Formats: sequence, structure tokens, C-alpha cells
Amino acid sequence: MSNIQFSILNVQCPSLALTAFEVAADTKEASMSIVVRPFAIEDHTRVLALWAQCPGIGLNDADSRENIAAYLHRNPGMSFVAEADDTLVAAVLCGHDGRRGYLNHLAVLPPFRRRGLGRALVQHCLEALRGAGVGKCHLFVFPENETALRFWQKIGWIQRTDLCIVSRLTETP
Ligand SMILES: CC(C)(COP(=O)(O)OP(=O)(O)OC[C@H]1O[C@@H](n2cnc3c(N)ncnc32)[C@H](O)[C@@H]1OP(=O)(O)O)[C@@H](O)C(=O)NCCC(=O)NCCS
Repeated sequence: MSNIQFSILNVQCPSLALTAFEVAADTKEASMSIVVRPFAIEDHTRVLALWAQCPGIGLNDADSRENIAAYLHRNPGMSFVAEADDTLVAAVLCGHDGRRGYLNHLAVLPPFRRRGLGRALVQHCLEALRGAGVGKCHLFVFPENETALRFWQKIGWIQRTDLCIVSRLTETP
């Protein structure tokens, strides 16, 4: 896997009635293609397995099949997965509240990292948000996740020092 070189191609995917993106990879042994397509709820089990092996992804009740189905329904065509043959190798959730976009749970399978796949998925999300008229996107990063912080900085995201997160449950105290 270490010698794989990727180039990103733009490919129409009629079966999805949406633009799908293909990342072609050439190894010394064989040619491989990675297809990035919208996240469907049928992907949930495999995506959850990917997220579960990434310490930088915080999973909880909000990630149940029912909740992710509701999220995808509210934000159609904004979340993406990447597949290499039958293996799910990357995923990201993206949505918006009408004003701002939110990106969650970006993860790339370890052997497929440092090849531009994370950056490509984020670009797809930002394009989807732009298409919905949303001008800015936020995301959460665990402060100890230095790899992710380097990644986000490298691809142009600004770490805010003027804000902190304040949360509570919606149930009656
Ligand atoms: C963060 C993550 C999604 C990056 O995915 P990726 O496909 O490896 O990222 P890319 O190849 O698109 O990297 C783009 C740039 O980010 C920077 N970068 C990515 N990973 C890096 C690392 N481990 N160390 C330093 N810089 C890194 C590099 O500058 C890279 O460009 P370069 O390879 O040309 O130098 C991946 O490491 C991952 O899945 N981590 C575990 C899950 C996680 O923590 N997600 C983030 C939650 S906020």
C-alpha cells in the first residue's frame, strides 16, 4: 500500500443520480480505484466499525443507526464514504442548520492515510455546503488529537481560540 499514488478524477455516476468521485490508485502490483460516494444508511455498520477503531472519533447514542438515518435524511447528499473494491476505507458526516455547516467523524482507514483521501472527502462536503448556500463550517476536535489538528490546519481550517463548547442534555433536569 505504501507506494500507491492517487489522482482524483471526476466521474458521473448515473446509478446515484449524483456526481461520484473516483480516486485512481496505481500500485506496482495492480491498479486500484477508490470511489467516493454519498453515505447511505446501508453503510452504517461498516462506517461504525471504521469509526470505532479511531481514537479521535468520539462515539455515543447519537451514532445509532436510527439517529444517523435521521441525520442523512435531514442532510441529503452531504455525507460521504469511500470504498476500495468492497472495503469501506473512509467516511465523513456533514450537515447544516440553515446557517452554518458542521462536519463530524471524518476517518480514513490507516493504510489509506496520507494519500489525499481525507482532504478529498472534506472538499466534497464543503462543495455540498456551498451548494446549499452555507458560507461557513465548524467541527469539533479533541485537543489531544494532534494528527487531526495538523491535518485541519494543513487544509486551511483555523483553530478558534475565541470560543469554547458549552453543552447540556435536552431532558428536564
Ligand atoms: C485526520 C485524518 C482523517 C486525515 O486523513 P488523510 O487521508 O490521512 O489526510 P490527507 O492525506 O488528505 O492529508 C492532507 C494533509 O494533512 C496533513 N496530515 C495528514 N495526516 C497527518 C499526520 N499524521 N501528521 C502530519 N500531517 C498530517 C499533511 O500535511 C497532509 O498532506 P501531505 O500528505 O501532502 O503532507 C486521518 O488521519 C484519520 O482518519 N485519523 C483518525 C480519525 C480522526 O482523528 N479524525 C479527525 C476527527 S476531528
